Amino acid sequence: KVADLKGLKQGQLRLAVITTAKYIIPRLLGPFCQLYPGIDISLQVTNHERILERMVNNMDDLYIMSQVPDHLDVNFEAFLENPLVVFAPLNHPLSHEKNIPIERLGEEPFIMREPGSGTRRAVQTLLDEHGVKVNVKLELGSNEAIKQAIAGGLGISVLSRHTLLTDAAEFSILDVQHFPIKRTWYMVYPAGKQLSIVARTYYEYLLNAAKEIVEQGNLLSIPSAETISR
Ligand code: PGA
Repeated sequence: KVADLKGLKQGQLRLAVITTAKYIIPRLLGPFCQLYPGIDISLQVTNHERILERMVNNMDDLYIMSQVPDHLDVNFEAFLENPLVVFAPLNHPLSHEKNIPIERLGEEPFIMREPGSGTRRAVQTLLDEHGVKVNVKLELGSNEAIKQAIAGGLGISVLSRHTLLTDAAEFSILDVQHFPIKRTWYMVYPAGKQLSIVARTYYEYLLNAAKEIVEQGNLLSIPSAETISR
């Protein structure tokens, strides 16, 4: 049983995760560190392209991303959904409309993530598929900055639903056709790499924690160390 091995697991865990995962992964490190007080952790939070660079340079033990690279030989496993939704300010005129045609997005000032962002790529792919051109008023390299810009009335954007974790009351999610964009978070590591015991322990921990979260249906209810290690 995992819990019995507690104090025996020691060492460093190096994680690198895409920006949307920062809303969940640090919270889940709490119970993990309780279970394994001997493990020290470094967590890098960055965009899809930077994660790929880190992976190519073998800088971390495990990576979390929502698009598995197809040009690299990697092992991967899905663990939680990461839907992308259309965010608008609370009192936006479209907030009570149903089934808004995707073309309508072209008429709103739009806030876009930076080049290199996986979110941006997914949004652009969907817009291109439907021949929709958005009017990008502002480009920002941070989900949090985009949320503040939306709240400030600068425009609308498409972000991971996870970025709303604690402040859902400040935004509306628009009911636009073809949304949410379905994505998934994966744990990824290079195929040739032998995971350390510490990394393997975290890998299994995260799968269990994600299962608990899905069962409880609430991303904010972080399972206790005891539940996860059962
Ligand atoms: P991003 O990552 O920070 O690169 O947009 C999110 C994702 O790829 O889902």
